Amino acid sequence: MALTTQQLITWKQQSRPIIALTAWDYAFAQILDMAGVDIILVGDSLAMVALGYQTTLPVTLDEMLHHAAAVRRGVERALVVCDLPFLSYQESTSQAIRAAGRALKETGVQGVKLEGGHPAAVETVARLSDIGIPVMGHVGLTPQSVNRLGYRQQGTTEAEAERILLEAIALSEAGAFAIVLEHIPAKLARIITTKLDIPTIGIGAGSDCDGQVLVTADLLGLSEKQPPFAKSYVNLKEIITKAINNFSQEVREREFP
Ligand code: KIV
Repeated sequence: MALTTQQLITWKQQSRPIIALTAWDYAFAQILDMAGVDIILVGDSLAMVALGYQTTLPVTLDEMLHHAAAVRRGVERALVVCDLPFLSYQESTSQAIRAAGRALKETGVQGVKLEGGHPAAVETVARLSDIGIPVMGHVGLTPQSVNRLGYRQQGTTEAEAERILLEAIALSEAGAFAIVLEHIPAKLARIITTKLDIPTIGIGAGSDCDGQVLVTADLLGLSEKQPPFAKSYVNLKEIITKAINNFSQEVREREFP
C-alpha cells in the first residue's frame, strides 16, 4: 500500500521522524523503497548528480518526467514526489497546472515540489492543492535561485528569518502537504516546525524538523561536491572503482571469465 500525505501528518502528530531521500532511476528507487524510505523525491538535483550540469537550472520538465517515471516504476510503498524544474511553473498558474498535471498523469508520482514562498508561489500551491495535486513547498535556500542567493545559509538575519517563517505559514495555509526547509538556522527550523500542522523536512536545518532529506548521491559518497551540511555514510565511489579495477585486472590477465 502506497503512503498518503495524510499519513505524514499523522506521523508529525506522533513525533515519528519522516525519512526522505532523492532518487533518479529505477535501481536506486527500488533499493530506497525496500529500505523503508518514506518519501522518495525525484529532486532536480539530478541535474547535477545524474546529468552532469553545474546547477539545477538546465534540467527540463521532459527530462524530469523521464527520470520520475523510472523511479515510480521501482516504488511500491513510498510517496514519490517530483520536483518541478526551473521555469516549468513560474510563468503562470496555468503553466504550473500543466507541468504538475503531466507529472501525475505521465509518471504516476503522487505529488510535486516547487520552490519559493513568495505570493505567486503561494497562489500556485493553492491552485494545485485545490484541484487535488499534492504539493510540497521548499523555502530557505532554494537552488533554482542560485544566481540571486548563491548557496549561502538563509534566514540568518531577523528580517530574513521572519520572511521565511511567513512564507512557510503561507504555503501551509495554501494547502502544501509538507515543506522542505533547506540550509536555515536550526532555531528558525524549530520555530517553523512548531508553528505548522504539516511536516517540515529539513536539509541543513537542524534536528528538530519532522523529517530529514539528503541527496542520495551525497549520502553514498557519489557526488563530485556536496554541501557542508550533507553527510556521506559510505564512499561508494571508492568501492565501485575498486570493483572495476578488479574486473579490469582479471580481464587483462585472462582470469575472467
Ligand atoms: O533537488 C533536490 O534534491 C532537493 C532536495 C535537496 C530537497 O530539492
